Amino acid sequence: MKTEVTGVNFNEVQAEVLIVGTFKHPENTQYWSELVSFYGASLEKWVKSGDISTDRKKLTKLPALQDGKLQRIFFVGLGDRKSLTEDDLREIFGMVGKELVASKSTNISIWLDSFTNEDIEIEDATYLAAEGIGMGLYQVPHYKTTSNVNDYYLDNIELLTTSDEKEILSFFNLGQVYAEAVNEARTLVNMPSNVLTATKMAEYAKELAETYDFEYEELGKAEMEELGMGAILAVNQGSTEEPRLIVMKYRANDDWSDVIGLVGKGVTYDTGGYSIKSKDGLVGMKGDMGGAAAVLGAMRIIGETSPSKNVIAVIAATDNMISGNAFKPDDVITSLSGKTIEILNTDAEGRLVLADAVTYAKQQGANYIVDVATLTGGVIVALGKDKTGALTNNETFFETFLEASVETGEFVWRLPLTEKDKKRIRKSDVADLNNSPGRDGHMIFGGGFVGEFVDNTPWIHLDIAGTSESSVSHDLGPKGGTGSMVRTLATLVERMSMESEE
Ligand code: BES
Ligand code: ZN
Ligand code: ZN
Repeated sequence: MKTEVTGVNFNEVQAEVLIVGTFKHPENTQYWSELVSFYGASLEKWVKSGDISTDRKKLTKLPALQDGKLQRIFFVGLGDRKSLTEDDLREIFGMVGKELVASKSTNISIWLDSFTNEDIEIEDATYLAAEGIGMGLYQVPHYKTTSNVNDYYLDNIELLTTSDEKEILSFFNLGQVYAEAVNEARTLVNMPSNVLTATKMAEYAKELAETYDFEYEELGKAEMEELGMGAILAVNQGSTEEPRLIVMKYRANDDWSDVIGLVGKGVTYDTGGYSIKSKDGLVGMKGDMGGAAAVLGAMRIIGETSPSKNVIAVIAATDNMISGNAFKPDDVITSLSGKTIEILNTDAEGRLVLADAVTYAKQQGANYIVDVATLTGGVIVALGKDKTGALTNNETFFETFLEASVETGEFVWRLPLTEKDKKRIRKSDVADLNNSPGRDGHMIFGGGFVGEFVDNTPWIHLDIAGTSESSVSHDLGPKGGTGSMVRTLATLVERMSMESEE
């Protein structure tokens, strides 16, 4: 894909499609009169009559009347100028991206200045255009032998603005980096589990590490046995697929004393084990590695942007299967931390693999931890499918995180974790902990269980069971994997890196 910045001169547009932001009173937009004289006076008439809609998220496509390369103009309704937010604009550009796929437009021109208002400056609009369109362009890879629906690519983008070329390109590139990382994570989530095994996920991570010069380590079953990772091993016990603990280190400086750990649940398929899921509950469980995908996506952004903060990524990858060897309710296992766990439900496997992954991240020097996982159906009951659930043990850390999530527009809501909740997690006649204290408020028990392994390390738990996949097509992409938390995790690292520079 080629991107270039040109001034605002409609007669020189080289693209097939010109994309124009259209506020309620477009005549207040700089250079609007030039667009009118380029297109013809009917433009003003059609805006007045509503044939070109200025309503937010309404798209009007008109043919271009002049001879030349330009075929069509997309008038993108932005609504009232004052109330347009960055979140609106991201979604609006997402919609534009989807329309480009639908119309197979390969050469586009975006009049960036037409998307700005008092709050959204040209740099933000540029960034959001790249991020929103980039996400909107995403197409789910498929295995159909009779269809070629994914053969569309965007070739050229012309950015029309009077602002500084270098600055515009750098903001646009950053938005593209974020969108591409999200789309990669989406593809991982969308991949079936017979294709994306733990071994395959590790191969993917290794390639990522090579691309960005991360230190890379991979623990297999034998290494896990040697170290005593009894929790992830128990989950893997019924599988013919080897488990993998995937470890990547991004060293921002020689001093490895201040390190943020990103820990992801990479359950490539969750049958529930002997506490087996229903036939309907099974469908979709290929996506139980959304946490791992979020961490891998965030690491891609980190590799591209090189923040000045050390990061360790730890991903626990395995499937949760049934066989004569599988672990069972009533089993007692010993985790890497030494803590013993009474298994009450083999379907509460995510917290088990995370227990060992979090312990390993700490052993490797993480002094901040964020774990991210499709952990419980409970979070969907509590918050729906558009909000990620969070727990934390540290107000300041969570505040920084929340600011990052507001910036990315990924809605996060914190639930409480009380001493009484912790007591229920620690209640067992035979072990230190139990893995399933009950169904009432069980999002809290899932995350709270992981919290037992972080001790006093500042920690945030993110339950993305609701947000990791969408059951419907939405403004920022199609049905399927969403890439939830990729952008927020990367933004958190960026913010912490700026804090440590201060
Ligand atoms: N992978 C599931 C959680 C999940 C549910 C993810 C729906 C995506 C959509 C997790 O391992 C699980 O099975 N959790 C149980 C916990 C219960 C046994 C305490 C659940 O949520 O029912
Ligand atoms: Zn489960
Ligand atoms: Zn699971």
